[in-house]
Amino acid sequence: MSQGRIPFVAGNWKMHKTVAEAEMFISGLLPRVSSADGVDVAICVPFTALGAMVDSTRGSRAQVFAQNMHQAPSGAFTGEVSAAMLTELDVHGVVLGHSERRELFGESDAALAEKVPAALEAGLIPILCVGETEAERDGGETEAKLRRQVETDLAEVPRERLAEVVIAYEPIWAIGTGKVATPEQAQEACAFVRSLVAGIDADAGAAIRIQYGGSVKPDNAAELLALEDVDGALVGGASLEPASFAAIVEAARA
Ligand code: 13P
Repeated sequence: MSQGRIPFVAGNWKMHKTVAEAEMFISGLLPRVSSADGVDVAICVPFTALGAMVDSTRGSRAQVFAQNMHQAPSGAFTGEVSAAMLTELDVHGVVLGHSERRELFGESDAALAEKVPAALEAGLIPILCVGETEAERDGGETEAKLRRQVETDLAEVPRERLAEVVIAYEPIWAIGTGKVATPEQAQEACAFVRSLVAGIDADAGAAIRIQYGGSVKPDNAAELLALEDVDGALVGGASLEPASFAAIVEAARA
């Protein structure tokens, strides 16, 4: 974490929590993070809980993000949701290109190249997820994969808005496995992602926030968040309980 970049801890609930369960969670979380000055906090919730969570977090330090959106403003896209549908609810941002969407639902870099600028244009903060599989890491292809994802997915973002994007480096082998990247691996990959952004625009490279994601827990968060090029965390499983998520937010204040 470097001075000047505000740490950003986001909880990705994935397909968890009904509205009733989300309300239980948020009533437990808000008192625990009310004094987390200097840290941006977000929950990334299912579409069905967005409206309720925006209402329940108004005036608090928790922001509410969606987990996906379509790139088009409207159209014959059954089951999809547009940026305007999210901003109408006062949603703050959207996770784009999570590896589960890439692997299980065919999310492509070509679509992401349209989604990232569409989100910014609508006033949403995009969290763009990138990361390699275990086979790609073992095969020495991590940097090539990250380069392809970052350069393609950000290609249509206006240079002056590049720093508003948040990138989450999530090694796929570390997601939901309990197998967290070592601090050296996380730092190396996040520094590489930053260098890719700096290659497009030097100022944006210095300012853009890069999260680490993949088995972040209260007991490993402080070490990861202290790394020079890690500006926050995208947390899956440990974001489902108020106490563990709040402990990770707390670790970002150190
Ligand atoms: P876990 O924290 O459960 O490994 O999930 C990480 C993730 O995919 C966040 O988007």
